[in-house]
Amino acid sequence: NWTMGAFVDKEIARIRGLVGDKAQVIGAVSGGVDSTVAAKLMQKAIGDRFHAVMVDNGVLRLNEAIEVEQNLREGLGINLTVIDASKLFLGRLAGVSDPEKKRKIIGNTFIDIFQDEAKRIAAAAENTERAGKIEWFLQGTLYPDVIESISFKGPSATIKTHHNVGGLPEKMDLKLIEPLRELFKDEVRALGTEMGIPDDLVWRHPFPGPGIAIRIIGEVTPDRVRIAQEADKIWISEIKEAEYYRAISQAYAAVLGVKAVAVVGDQRLHGEIIHLRAVQTTDFMTADAFEDFSLKWLKRVSGRIANEVSGVARVVYETTSKPPATIELE
Ligand code: XMP
Repeated sequence: NWTMGAFVDKEIARIRGLVGDKAQVIGAVSGGVDSTVAAKLMQKAIGDRFHAVMVDNGVLRLNEAIEVEQNLREGLGINLTVIDASKLFLGRLAGVSDPEKKRKIIGNTFIDIFQDEAKRIAAAAENTERAGKIEWFLQGTLYPDVIESISFKGPSATIKTHHNVGGLPEKMDLKLIEPLRELFKDEVRALGTEMGIPDDLVWRHPFPGPGIAIRIIGEVTPDRVRIAQEADKIWISEIKEAEYYRAISQAYAAVLGVKAVAVVGDQRLHGEIIHLRAVQTTDFMTADAFEDFSLKWLKRVSGRIANEVSGVARVVYETTSKPPATIELE
């Protein structure tokens, strides 16, 4: 007679047993459902001895860091530190066009920042009486990730490098704690709802670790990031407004990185082309372009993006499936 409520109680007891009553735990959060649910479980189990860290890498969605801070710290009571490292990330990304190089830069910079923060938290923790050292690293690994890392060694595994925190716990000499490793995505959502996490967070579309950097073809400049963020905000808010959000598995607006001409007022604009994507998938290994939008609706949303986001000349909607395309552009 397995219920979510019983899972929460059992998992909290297991975490308390593992961690004991002094040791501390650190973990990265992104605002996505997995890391939020994992963080909320830790907070319930050990309160402020769990330290959540969010790194603003400058290629998040518009206002994402502020929203995650409000949701997790104020809304869910999680002991959260947000680090604004956007200048460092964008500086290291300047002049880089190769997608895998972008991923490496973002992954490595993330590790640098996270390790520094872990050291800072550890140093602060040494001086308190009620808590001990940071000994554990929280990871929101799900059951399908466990399976994939055991059995998925096919050629496509090397097409893209998907892991953001690879090797971090070993490097930092921390033990791994994975409270979601027996759960599927739908169970993680149910668990989130059970613990009072709002629907917006529970049903959030996944967002890649390298963020908008792989949604801008070519060089990632601050202006292109702004354009992608503003266009994405309009795209996603229209999708939510029209109640397509839950039927879509992942949607985003990207910058194609080649310019086109438009006329704005009586001025000729040589501007960016926005690429809109929305897909339906169950496992993210194959995906279909979402097809329930009417052309009329798409035209209205395109018009809004072209008119409201400065620097945009054109807007296009992608209809390619995966395979042969992928979900992301790069
Ligand atoms: P593709 O583009 O391979 O994407 O069809 C499949 C899923 O993986 C996500 N994705 C990533 N996630 N780091 C991540 O954390 C990455 O480098 C990365 N590349 C793709 C993508 O958003 C989709 O959900």
